Amino acid sequence: MNAWTGGPVLGVETSCDETSAAIVEDGRLRSLVIASQDAHAVFGGVVPEIAARAHLRTLDAVTRAALEQAGLGADDVTGIGVTRGPGLIGSLLIGVNWTKGLSLTLGVPLLGVHHMEAHLFANSLEHPEATPPFVALLVSGGHTLLLFASEWGRYELLGQTRDDAAGEAFDKVARRLGLGYPGGPEIERAAESGTGGRYSLPRPLLSRRHTPSDSAFFDFSFSGLKTAAALLIEEIERQGEKALEQAVPDVAAEFQAAVIEVLVAKTMRAVELKECDRVLLGGGVACNTALRSAMADALDGPGALFAPEPRLATDNAGMVARVAEYRLRNGERSGMEMSADAGLAFPGLRAPAYH
Ligand code: KG4
Ligand code: ZN
Repeated sequence: MNAWTGGPVLGVETSCDETSAAIVEDGRLRSLVIASQDAHAVFGGVVPEIAARAHLRTLDAVTRAALEQAGLGADDVTGIGVTRGPGLIGSLLIGVNWTKGLSLTLGVPLLGVHHMEAHLFANSLEHPEATPPFVALLVSGGHTLLLFASEWGRYELLGQTRDDAAGEAFDKVARRLGLGYPGGPEIERAAESGTGGRYSLPRPLLSRRHTPSDSAFFDFSFSGLKTAAALLIEEIERQGEKALEQAVPDVAAEFQAAVIEVLVAKTMRAVELKECDRVLLGGGVACNTALRSAMADALDGPGALFAPEPRLATDNAGMVARVAEYRLRNGERSGMEMSADAGLAFPGLRAPAYH
């Protein structure tokens, strides 16, 4: 195949419960369509089988809508990016196989994209200056990653969660509090009328005794915090039926404060160690305004904080098309043997120099 020379790139994202298609050209978003699958709300979490079937039903219409929104026909597409992993295997397979067919039909190159690398690129759609070097905190329903990006495609993994992801902890605690799904926005809303500190929850792995040579220095753990919140809720429930209802805002505020304190502290450790005060947030939890303002306060100086608008922070195909465009331009492409990989490793990772 000849070298890719630019033009509209179609992105497709089906790794979890959002079916999304987008067009990106020259690093800019020309269109973005996201169909969220509300069917999961009643189950309090994503049901993989339902998700995969819904992707299959809607992907064609979502792609057509993205083309229409950009004022393009399918023949104008010059390349296709698709999320290859990580994610739910049944959902990933729908997007991968569907785009393989489209790439063959249109005769344009296909590129399999890493979902979390796409979250890294999301900011640059809105802020073209959100380029490396930067410290990145990626916080979603499935991942919590602290990275240093020296350049696009070269990443150092500083820390990650040892158990639950930050968003997962939000979802589980929200469920225990009787709030809706997804839990992050619900907890954020409840916390607005509550006060942190009325109850006390732990700040996991935040000991001052850790040094950069301990993995605990940068790593996260939210499972213990989630259990501590569950025990606290149980204790409040024993005080009577109305007690929990009244306590929800204060428990939500304390839980949110605990998560944010840990996320900000670890990110600031990375800022100091890497001597880089450009910080980039990504993933659904990056929608949290309390997290954004706590991070901005901690950075307080000439540095820069990049946080995408909510539709680009949560799962979307714009970020997938953006990575694909970057990598196609670098001469990369995927062959027809490319398949979905639920546990796909982050591309371009170097071992951290500290532990
Ligand atoms: O990136 P994302 O859309 O999907 C994954 O790749 O997982 O992230 C979804 C996660 C959910 O756990 C959701 O509760 C969380 O992001 N989230 C939030 C907020 N909005 C979404 N967490 C805290 N505060 C929010 N405002
Ligand atoms: Zn995501």
